[in-house]
Amino acid sequence: MNTITNRPIGVFDSGIGGLTVVRSLMEHLPFENIIYFGDTARVPYGIKSVETINLYAAQITEFLMKKEVKLLIVACNTMSAVALQTIKDLSNVPVLEVIDASAKIAAKDSRTKSIGVIGTPATINSNAYARAIRLLDKEAKIFSQPCPLFVPLVEEGWLDHPATRLIAQEYLKPVIAEKIDTLVLGCTHYPLLKPLLQDIAGQTVKLIDSAEAMADIAANLIAQQKIYNQNRRSPDYLFCVTDVPYRFQTIGERFLGRTISRIELVKL
Ligand code: DGL
Repeated sequence: MNTITNRPIGVFDSGIGGLTVVRSLMEHLPFENIIYFGDTARVPYGIKSVETINLYAAQITEFLMKKEVKLLIVACNTMSAVALQTIKDLSNVPVLEVIDASAKIAAKDSRTKSIGVIGTPATINSNAYARAIRLLDKEAKIFSQPCPLFVPLVEEGWLDHPATRLIAQEYLKPVIAEKIDTLVLGCTHYPLLKPLLQDIAGQTVKLIDSAEAMADIAANLIAQQKIYNQNRRSPDYLFCVTDVPYRFQTIGERFLGRTISRIELVKL
């Protein structure tokens, strides 16, 4: 019987980045079924126009609504930043998104109120993080930096490569110069660069990982609404992608830290 409680959580991203959120969900909510959607044929979104990102986000939301998910998680900062209203308008279940999740932690944790935010060009240009953090703390000073080269470097698996280190030093230089004590990793690809970014930013700077923030918020919502899966057996994980799955499988397993067994190629 498909009751609301054993329906899957729908999680989506432009590609594989959102798997950092799935990994965190699997750890925090080990009995929840999950359907992941990665638009691998059209990634990256972060350098596309607002209109295009909204169109893609609408198609993915409609797809996941047909799959009867009980909760929708936008595991992509870029879509959260520029297409959230479109997604909410098309969804008949609660929608959680990563920007709000990270903004709350950054506003709470920063002592100096100097907060750095790194993300894709679309996320940074939207100013969504600065707005969300300032709504929680009017005195916060936000220093933002787009990092367009990080997504391809992570996808290449160059997580601690000298080239990545050099590029990261360039990107972080102006932000670190502002004496930030908190750095928001405003893209779901970036948690994979965490050790390298921590090293460059220095140990005194707290890195905020949207994947971890999201898992806590999802667990709270599921408890509040009493929609946790009552079946205490191994959950179903299904991964839907829009391009041939081999690459997704190889790189995705690195993001997830475990084997991916069910992948479906879908057409929107
Ligand atoms: N995962 C996306 C994000 O969190 C970045 C990848 C892309 O540019 O599509 O913003």
